[in-house]
Amino acid sequence: MSGEKMTRAEKQDRELIGAARAAQRRAYAPYSKFPVGAAVRTRGGGTYSACNVENASYGLSCCAERNAVYAAVAAGDRAIDAIAIVADTDIPVAPCGACRQVLNEFNPAMAVIMVSRRGAVKTMRLDRLLPYSFQGKSLKTGNKK
Ligand code: THU
Repeated sequence: MSGEKMTRAEKQDRELIGAARAAQRRAYAPYSKFPVGAAVRTRGGGTYSACNVENASYGLSCCAERNAVYAAVAAGDRAIDAIAIVADTDIPVAPCGACRQVLNEFNPAMAVIMVSRRGAVKTMRLDRLLPYSFQGKSLKTGNKK
């Protein structure tokens, strides 16, 4: 990439990955020792980042992706266009099934930007990661086009 011109979209994705990396450093993962960071971007240009937060009662732990989505929703900014996810994995980290379903609630077409420890990036649309998803009777998230 060095020396090449970055498009505006590439620059935005780089920034989102940077926000996810910063959040990863704040992970509370004393049990798994697997820190994860995530950052969502909204249609209006907002960025909301979060980390995984674990608990002594293991099942109460919550993934970085869900915490980032919930931060955006709590801020009243639920038109999520993209999420970047960073973990110390050899290949770009994929979101767990539960997080895919939570992401799907807000935009099945969002870009999922997955990043490895060494910065390898794989981007997929959420509806490829979660095909034929459960949508309930109708989605009422305010993100319909
Ligand atoms: N985790 C995430 O935060 N995101 C994922 O996509 C997979 C798993 C967290 C949950 C738990 O705190 C730790 O990573 C190990 O599973």
